[in-house]
Amino acid sequence: MKTIKDVAIAGKRLLIRVDFNVPLNKEQQVTDDTRIQAVLPTLKYALEQKARIIVASHLGRPKGKVVPEFSLKPAAERLGVLLNQPVQLATDCVGEAVQAMVAAMKPGDIIVLENLRFHPEEEKNLDAFAQALAGLSDIYVNDAFAVSHRANASVEAITRFAPLSVAGLLLKNEMDYFDKAMTTPQRPLVAVIGGAKVSSKLAALENMLLHVDKIIIGGAMANTFLRAMGYATGKSLVENELIETAGTILKKASEKGVRIYLPVDGITAGQVEPTAATAVFPVQEIPADQMILDIGPATSLLYAEALQGAKTIVWNGPMGVFEMTPFSKGTFDMVDHVTATGAITIVGGGDTDAAVHRSGKADRISYISTGGGAFLELLEGKVLPGVAALEAIPNNN
Ligand code: 3PG
Ligand code: MG
Repeated sequence: MKTIKDVAIAGKRLLIRVDFNVPLNKEQQVTDDTRIQAVLPTLKYALEQKARIIVASHLGRPKGKVVPEFSLKPAAERLGVLLNQPVQLATDCVGEAVQAMVAAMKPGDIIVLENLRFHPEEEKNLDAFAQALAGLSDIYVNDAFAVSHRANASVEAITRFAPLSVAGLLLKNEMDYFDKAMTTPQRPLVAVIGGAKVSSKLAALENMLLHVDKIIIGGAMANTFLRAMGYATGKSLVENELIETAGTILKKASEKGVRIYLPVDGITAGQVEPTAATAVFPVQEIPADQMILDIGPATSLLYAEALQGAKTIVWNGPMGVFEMTPFSKGTFDMVDHVTATGAITIVGGGDTDAAVHRSGKADRISYISTGGGAFLELLEGKVLPGVAALEAIPNNN
């Protein structure tokens, strides 16, 4: 993929698609600006080169209507603070007022367009809308890894209308790290997979069986596997319709020589409450009135041993309900385990990212992806439409 560094951008108008889909609180303040920080290298480079920068993003799911709570105003303000320069917010992302604003831009100016998803055409990937966006600029830059799994107008169709389309530095970095982990990994390659549901990770598990040496499973999705092995799991969250599938995955893994690690004990409680009385039980002895809400201490030890010697680790999904202190230890311990190996560690997926940040040890992880759904689709072995669109352009690779 050609990047912004491979083309001449001085003085040019760049439409840079970013993912500023950041969490906001009730006061409309950005509560986590990781995704804004992540595109600063691209924006700073473009500023140094004296390009005219038009930033485009979606925020939330306003479903094609103007919904003021989903305005990009807070994100644009935060960007201005981070860059320490004025950042203007346009009232829309297409139309005459925006065109006039763009026409008045000087080299080194930066504007943020209003939420792309205020227009239904964005998510419908419609040509006319993509063409209108492309028409604002000389060069289109995709630096929105986290939305590159969506064939949206500003991600996919736009590459057919922009005179030149290239990747931003974040997108390039995300793809390079992922390739390093999954395509040409240093082995042993260990996947740590958690989260609530097997259903949302099924395709990823199937694909990972083809690539990894070991899979460590935690989170409530482990319960469905425990059931497949014949254990009773009390009131724990289980996807009954997937017990058989979980069994099939275990069978396939053993046929392929991929080692799978499942919890041997769990932290349990009668309900998912931060004040609930907790207990520890071996998986053979989960009481009927208890549910497993975190991996237990023996499991944590087992997983640390399984990670020893790993050269590459890919981690998606927490080990328990880490948002509640009594059920957070398994996930936070896992941060210590993976960093202790010295392996190249790549973390992706919204919750995992949040958990690692909350552990205070994010700086010890080699790479934390900005993608949730996009990262998961890479784990599933899919090609992201936004990336495919850039790669399809002749002479762009
Ligand atoms: C995300 O946060 O998952 C991306 O910004 C994409 O948003 P979406 O899931 O609403 O398409
Ligand atoms: Mg999403």
